[in-house]
Amino acid sequence: MLILCIESSCDETAAAVIRDGREILSNVVASQVDVHARYGGVVPELASRKHVEAISVVINSALEDAGVSIDQIEGIGVTRGPGLIGALLVGLSTAKAMSWMLDVPLAAVHHMEGHILAPFLEEAPDFPFLALAVSGGHTHLYRVDGIGSYRTLGQTLDDAAGEAYDKVAKLLGLGYPGGAVIDRLAALGNPEAIAFPRPMLHKPDFNFSFSGLKTAVLQYVKKCQEPIDDQHMADIAASFQAAVVEVLTRKTFRAAAAEGLERIVVAGGVACNSGLRARFADLSARHSVKVFFPSPVLCGDNAAMLGVSANYYLENGQHADNTVNAVSNWTLDSLNAN
Ligand code: KG4
Ligand code: ZN
Repeated sequence: MLILCIESSCDETAAAVIRDGREILSNVVASQVDVHARYGGVVPELASRKHVEAISVVINSALEDAGVSIDQIEGIGVTRGPGLIGALLVGLSTAKAMSWMLDVPLAAVHHMEGHILAPFLEEAPDFPFLALAVSGGHTHLYRVDGIGSYRTLGQTLDDAAGEAYDKVAKLLGLGYPGGAVIDRLAALGNPEAIAFPRPMLHKPDFNFSFSGLKTAVLQYVKKCQEPIDDQHMADIAASFQAAVVEVLTRKTFRAAAAEGLERIVVAGGVACNSGLRARFADLSARHSVKVFFPSPVLCGDNAAMLGVSANYYLENGQHADNTVNAVSNWTLDSLNAN
């Protein structure tokens, strides 16, 4: 089955053509990052306007890259939520119109379901597995027993990991978005230079908190007497990253052990982080747990990742009808009832 997938939940307008929920024929992402950078974060109204401008161009590019014509498309997959409501509506309205026009079924997919199933486009893990979803809006641990079967084991109580990266980068004057910049700087610094806190590390539950860590970095910077030189900046970045990585990896492995799971998927934009990838690889070799990271292009927001569950839902007759609406707050667990 050839599915056209459309994603517009935040600040990337994306479209992809996926065959049989497995094979990526095209994966086009138009980032709005330059538009939002000057404001230090995503401006929802601007995001919606930019999606409107980009969406048909991006869809046409996805069809062209895949070498398929629009009438070969047999189904549409689209992000229904969670995300910015105005941004979601652009993708969803386009998908509904195309589904009606082409007379093909529509699958309305959860954005985080897309992220955590992205590995199925490369090396598919067997079910069940533990998923750590780390992005700008989420830091969640899910038990995944199959497509459509998710249970939240823990989540951030305040900032998401990506949000903490972005806020720390902003307070260090490193621009927006900050994850990739801090990651690059961290490689040049000493991760033990500053003992930043490891929030919630010793709590027995699987929740996270990153807002205090961000405040600790802010207080440290305010107390610095001298201007921060390049090496000092790299040490701050490395020490902050070490704290984030330690909390994420230790709690994830603890959750896997508690649930008796031998496979872990790490997904979402923060899964691009080189420190996180290296630490998971190291711990995976020591515990007998296999860790799956999607390729970086499939970690950040993209439409290809929607193809896995869209294909599954369409093949199982779980079609969305044309009255389906966008949902800005939507838990993954609520899909289990469907
Ligand atoms: O999944 P994503 O593209 O969008 C959301 O659904 O939120 O994630 C974006 C987040 C941003 O906060 C960005 O700073 C972070 O992922 N990010 C990173 C890295 N690359 C992107 N965080 C840490 N290290 C990176 N290399
Ligand atoms: Zn995302």
